[in-house]
Amino acid sequence: MKDTDCGHPATITELRGTAEQGRLVLAGVLDRLDGAFPAAARRHRLGPGAHLVPLGGGSSLLIALAPATASREGWSGQLVLSATVLNRSGLGDAEVAKALACLQSVPFTGSECEAFGEQLPLLAGLPRRVPDKPLRGCGLLLAGHLLSDLVVQAQTLIALGARPETMTVLDRGRPHKFRRRVEAHLAALGIAVLPASDVETALRLHAARVMEPSVVLDDGGLVAPALALLAPELLPAYRGLVEQSMAGVEVLEGLGADLPLPVFNVARSRVKRGIEAHWIAESVVRAIRELLPGEGFDGAPALVIGFGTVGEQVAAVLRAQRMRVAVFDSEWPRLLAAHEAGYLTSPEVPALLDGHRPLLIVSSTGRTGLGGEDLDFLAGDCFVASVSGRATEIDLPGLARRATRVEDLGRVGMRYLLPAGPVTVLAAGLPVNLPRGDAASAAPARQSDLTMAAVVWGACALARPGHGFAPGPDMAATDASIAESGLVERYYGLYGAGVGAGVRGRSRSRAGGSGEGARAGAGAAGHGTARRSRGRARISEV
Ligand SMILES: NC(=O)c1ccc[n+]([C@@H]2O[C@H](COP(=O)([O-])OP(=O)(O)OC[C@H]3O[C@@H](n4cnc5c(N)ncnc54)[C@H](O)[C@@H]3O)[C@@H](O)[C@H]2O)c1
Repeated sequence: MKDTDCGHPATITELRGTAEQGRLVLAGVLDRLDGAFPAAARRHRLGPGAHLVPLGGGSSLLIALAPATASREGWSGQLVLSATVLNRSGLGDAEVAKALACLQSVPFTGSECEAFGEQLPLLAGLPRRVPDKPLRGCGLLLAGHLLSDLVVQAQTLIALGARPETMTVLDRGRPHKFRRRVEAHLAALGIAVLPASDVETALRLHAARVMEPSVVLDDGGLVAPALALLAPELLPAYRGLVEQSMAGVEVLEGLGADLPLPVFNVARSRVKRGIEAHWIAESVVRAIRELLPGEGFDGAPALVIGFGTVGEQVAAVLRAQRMRVAVFDSEWPRLLAAHEAGYLTSPEVPALLDGHRPLLIVSSTGRTGLGGEDLDFLAGDCFVASVSGRATEIDLPGLARRATRVEDLGRVGMRYLLPAGPVTVLAAGLPVNLPRGDAASAAPARQSDLTMAAVVWGACALARPGHGFAPGPDMAATDASIAESGLVERYYGLYGAGVGAGVRGRSRSRAGGSGEGARAGAGAAGHGTARRSRGRARISEV
């Protein structure tokens, strides 16, 4: 979506799809305008894909749907939906915004959904592997970001038996590029989308519209505290909770017996800790390099703060890219582990800032990795990146207090001019690999693919009556269930080193069944194709 600047308020929404899908989108837009503006019913069709829609007070909206410029090979499948307000004098700003929103809040076309699904083959493939529709008769409360991944996740949950009317999405509110379209798409499916800023109200609305017992798909411990402490009388209506992030697990640990629900703990599962961390680290480093294309990191000093699951992998990736890596962790065993892995370490951050003078600092503690008086030891001329979703990972107020000036560098981040020199906080302290609104920061989908597939698998496990999970985070049951899922084998087939078919043929699902193993193997056989088509089908989130 783009707002053009031609003197008249205008908007452009780029779509991907067939001409027929484009016509459906346009029909939906005209319907929405009819609902929002009584005068709109008197619209004129100016030609194929072009309409003049009266908005009242003499104003009108010129709408056009046209193919984007054809490439040399023919039409690219891209469509451009544009709208311009003409003679807006009779309309207030709110009315103009309402009219343009009708074109911005457009559900995704079938082609776009297909392309999103190709990005997440593990997740999108689950319904084929789980044919018994375990989510039939189960409500779902799902915390998420309004990214295209969520569309695939919602459609997968529906294909696994969930009814859209029994699903509530809690929107975490980040300004992702497609958020309006994701919201419109979920709403068109019949899913309620509510702000995550008021979880208690969302829980109560969910309870009012959903009679079936529900499962929570939580992220970052958003739902758990509200359910346990603000609406505990609703607890019996829940079969369990799936949590995917370490921050959420900490919240759950804090709640203890206040949350007597079974927890499918994806965050601490072997899958997430063992496999995902490496890909996360790669995407973090790639995102940093993409934000700073001109920066020479070869041989330069780097500091990783927090040598946990992700930090350890970040340090390894930076070292593999020939940076001289120092590590700090506040826990002695982790500091020792870093030392034994050959990194420069110190039990004091200032000693590393002052002595090693890192050009790049990556903080991955999930708490505050860089802040307080340690900031006085920053050498300047350096870049700071956060891995964690915590707004406090980097002490931005502390940096601002010390800065003579703060400059907004757009998508690169914020530059703080400290007495020792400029310190640039990449992505303004948000997780540096989070998709944000430009093609350069798009993280490969494979990280989310495995986690989201494991989360949905977890929801299916908890939805089954007699699931056998004990109240609280049941690690043994989670690991056993994920092992049974065959997801790791499929992940290896899709994203692994690409060894010969013989090895794939020999690999067997822990579920044991030769049928399951054979299915996993069959999936692997088609992976070359999947990999190629993913490249072709990719739509930039961003
Ligand atoms: N950006 C992403 O794609 C992404 C993906 C997964 C996790 N994360 C986030 O990354 C963060 C780290 O996750 P993890 O799984 O590695 O957690 P973890 O618990 O395994 O590791 C955190 C490490 O930081 C250390 N630590 C804690 N406080 C510290 C401090 N003040 N100073 C120095 N070290 C400190 C801990 O001792 C631990 O070793 C979390 O916030 C998590 O939510 C981000």
